[in-house]
Amino acid sequence: MKKTALITGASMGIGKALSEKLLSENYTVIGTCRSGLIPEITHANFHAFPLDLSNEASIESAYKEISSKFPQIDLLINNAGIGPDLGLDNPEKKSYKSTFEVNVSGTVFFTESLIKLIPKNGIILIISSKMGSINECVSSSSVAYRMSKTALNMYTKILTNKLEGNISVAAIHPGWVKTTIMDSNMELATLTPEQSAEGIYKFLISNFETGTFWDVEYEKKLEW
Ligand SMILES: NC(=O)c1ccc[n+]([C@@H]2O[C@H](COP(=O)([O-])OP(=O)(O)OC[C@H]3O[C@@H](n4cnc5c(N)ncnc54)[C@H](OP(=O)(O)O)[C@@H]3O)[C@@H](O)[C@H]2O)c1
Repeated sequence: MKKTALITGASMGIGKALSEKLLSENYTVIGTCRSGLIPEITHANFHAFPLDLSNEASIESAYKEISSKFPQIDLLINNAGIGPDLGLDNPEKKSYKSTFEVNVSGTVFFTESLIKLIPKNGIILIISSKMGSINECVSSSSVAYRMSKTALNMYTKILTNKLEGNISVAAIHPGWVKTTIMDSNMELATLTPEQSAEGIYKFLISNFETGTFWDVEYEKKLEW
């Protein structure tokens, strides 16, 4: 049976490539971004909706609009994320607040509303980052971004405990990907969004163990 996937942050970068990959694998794909407009994806099975994760009212109305049209979501990919302090040495209040609003609070409360639409054997992927791994951290930069991804890793564990035997959950490091999340990424990063999306799809169909933190680039489990 045709499956329905919801991908946040589908307007560009990894989310757009993932949307295109899942469409090519015969999913119906719901893609969100702040404007709700993703004209670059013209596939008949693609449906764009507005969602601003920093805005509570937007989360509520996105849930209402999406659930009225799609009563079942088989796969939720929490991909949307920002990194305004990536590469910066010191925390700064404005970007710290926006990073936590979008990456943490927005993702948590959107997911909590969506859970009731996900059936038994459904999947939730959280696009985290190796930069959120406490075990791997040898840097002192990007304070808000790193801490937001660490918080998402904990949320992955909490969801895993809560949904055990029902819905599988994993945190994903998508690799170092050529996107506009950080200026230097377009030049220096090692993976294209399409390569990252291929890797995420490979993991998705791998019958993975719930509660895994997975590195798509090196195809191995990461330490939390
Ligand atoms: N690129 C990398 O090397 C890398 C590495 C590790 C992890 N990641 C993670 O991968 C995910 C995707 O990142 P990317 O590199 O593809 O970044 P990107 O190209 O900048 O895309 C970010 C997406 O998030 C959406 N977004 C931004 N602010 C939002 C908000 N307030 N509410 C809802 N959606 C919002 C954007 O849509 P609009 O602006 O159109 O709303 C866009 O679709 C992020 O979680 C990032 O932390 C990336």
